[in-house]
Amino acid sequence: PPGNIHNTYPYLHKTDTDDMVPLVIEDLNSYGLCVLDNFCGPQLGRAALKELLCIYNKGIFQDGQLVAKSKNDAQSIRSDKIMWVDGKEPFCVNIGTLLKKIDGLIMRANKMPNNGKLGQYLINGRTKAMLAVYPGSGTHYVKHVDNPNHDGRCITAIYYLNIDWDVQKKGGLLRIFPENESNTVADIAPLFDRLLFFWSDRQNPHEVQPSYDTRYAITLWYFDATERALATEKFELEKRLRELGAIRTAPTQEQLRI
Ligand code: OGA
Ligand code: OGA
Ligand code: MN
Repeated sequence: PPGNIHNTYPYLHKTDTDDMVPLVIEDLNSYGLCVLDNFCGPQLGRAALKELLCIYNKGIFQDGQLVAKSKNDAQSIRSDKIMWVDGKEPFCVNIGTLLKKIDGLIMRANKMPNNGKLGQYLINGRTKAMLAVYPGSGTHYVKHVDNPNHDGRCITAIYYLNIDWDVQKKGGLLRIFPENESNTVADIAPLFDRLLFFWSDRQNPHEVQPSYDTRYAITLWYFDATERALATEKFELEKRLRELGAIRTAPTQEQLRI
């Protein structure tokens, strides 16, 4: 039975993020989100930032994609520049190390006994990492839900890389509007070496407020095995029905992307 997965926890070797596991469980269950400061330390954080800058300066980032009628429409919703990496690229060694730390933490929290809502998911994978840059000049992302339609993503993880970020001067706040907490919002500054987790579903609409300086983040989405398998089945079935002419609408960009 799936519950047996919990028994694997004691066999995972110890890591330097183990002491964060209880906090992740507690905060996700209480607030639907969790903020961890000084996640990996300045050395690895700066090395990851250096890699991100190096990739960004090659000019190979693309517009954050959206289902929208035109490029102008898309940019009024979302004006970040993005690139997907798996962390195994030779130019992503430090980013790869960072991703492994985040993976280790979330896997351990998922396997802990008595972990509340986290235990309802079986996290068995994730998307590639989305490197995201908001190049200042008021670039933003309007209020949205990451996974409104059960595409398999259960937790959003965002690691911020902005040294000396003054929200008063630079904006770029992430504002979360949790469903349960009526009228309460969570404002999260994109501070260097800060890691954020939140439920990806409709519980957590959020927006990136206009950014007036270049803002760097790395985002991952973890999959729940069951929801992901169902979404994949649905996608494959729709593909076959499209080939047979029974469905005439194109798949959404979101479906193609994730
Ligand atoms: C996203 C997003 C938030 C942030 O890319 O879906 O909401 O703080 N990003 O970068
Ligand atoms: C969807 C959708 C917009 C996007 O989830 O169905 O259209 O982000 N999402 O691509
Ligand atoms: Mn989002």
